Amino acid sequence: MLCLGIEGTAEKTGVGIVDDSGRVLSLRGRPLIPERGGIHPREAAEHHARWIPVLVEEALEDAGVDMDEIGLISFSRGPGLGPALRTVATAARTLAISLKIPIVGVNHCIGHIEIGRLTTGASDPLSLYVSGGNTQVIAFNQGRYRVFGETLDIAVGNMLDQFAREAGLGHPGGPVIEGLAAKASDYVELPYSVKGMDISFSGLLTAAIRKLEAGEKLENLAYSLQETAFSMLVEVSERALAYTEKGEVLLCGGVAVNRRLREMMETMCREHGVDFHMPPPEYCGDNGAMIAWLGHLVHKHQGPQRIEETSVVQRYRTDEVDVPWMRESEH
Ligand code: ATP
Ligand code: FE2
Repeated sequence: MLCLGIEGTAEKTGVGIVDDSGRVLSLRGRPLIPERGGIHPREAAEHHARWIPVLVEEALEDAGVDMDEIGLISFSRGPGLGPALRTVATAARTLAISLKIPIVGVNHCIGHIEIGRLTTGASDPLSLYVSGGNTQVIAFNQGRYRVFGETLDIAVGNMLDQFAREAGLGHPGGPVIEGLAAKASDYVELPYSVKGMDISFSGLLTAAIRKLEAGEKLENLAYSLQETAFSMLVEVSERALAYTEKGEVLLCGGVAVNRRLREMMETMCREHGVDFHMPPPEYCGDNGAMIAWLGHLVHKHQGPQRIEETSVVQRYRTDEVDVPWMRESEH
C-alpha cells in the first residue's frame, strides 16, 4: 500500500510517497524563504495552501502512480505553528475524504526519528534531535520515546537562525554559519550552559550578539557559536548514553546535516564503542517522506483515525505518543 504524507509544521511544505516496506517513491519539498525577518505563521499557512496541490501532483508523477493508487493519507498534526498545521490538516482531510481512504495525523518529532531509523538501519538508538524548533535527547523506554534532556529555552537551530538574522545573513542561518565557521581564525569565549541533562542557548545567543555589536569578527563568532553549542549537545548526549546504555546513537533533525556536529558526535560515539547513525541530508530536515513512513507505522499498529480525531496539536510532545511498533520489536 502507498501512503502520501504531507508535512507543514513550519515554513517548509513537504510531500512524500512511501510504500509499506519503507521504499521512498517521491520526496518533494518547497521552503518559504522570507525576504526579511523570521517566519510569520500566517505566511507559512499561505505558502502551504499554495504549494500542497502542486507538490502532490509532482510527487505522484515522480512515483509514477495515479491518485487512486494511494491507500493512506498521513499528515503532521504537530508540534508547530497553528495556522500552518490547520492548513496541512485541511488538505489531508480533503484528500482522504474525496479519495475515500484512511487518514492518520502523526507527531512530527517522531517522524524525524522514524525516518532516521528507516534510512540508517538504526534499531533502538539514543536520538539527538536538533532542529529549528526542537532540541531533545530521546530514547525508547516502556512504550514511548522518552525525553532524557532538552533545551530549557530556544532550540539550537533557532539560536543559529536568530544570530544569522542579527548579522544580516538571512534565513535559514544554520548553513551560512557553517560556511563562515570554516573561515575562522580564533575561538571567542562564549557562555557554556549545561544543567544536568538539559541545556540552554539563550545566554549564548545574547553573548554572541553583544560581541558582534562590539566588532568581533563574524567568522570567529560563527565558529565559536558552533563549537560551544555543539559541545553542549555532545555532553548531554554522552550523559544520556551512559544512563540509558543504548548501543547506538542517531542524529536527526535539520541541524543534523551540519558536518561539524556530525564529526563531534561521531568521535564521542567512537570513544564509547557505540554505532553512530545519521540519515542522508535530504531526510534530516522536514520532509513528507518521514510523515508518510510514520503514517504507515501508526496505521498498521493503531488503525485509521476518524476525521474528528485529526485535530491539530500545537504543543504535541514526543513523550505523549505510544509507539507500539517499537514495543513489538526486541525492546
Ligand atoms: P522542527 O519542527 O522539527 O523543529 P524545523 O521547522 O526547524 O523542524 P528542520 O528542517 O527540521 O525544520 O530544521 C531546520 C533548521 O535546521 C533551521 O534552524 C536551520 O538553520 C538548520 N540547519 C539547516 N542546515 C544547517 C547546517 N548546515 N548547520 C546547522 N544548522 C542547519
Ligand atoms: Fe522538523
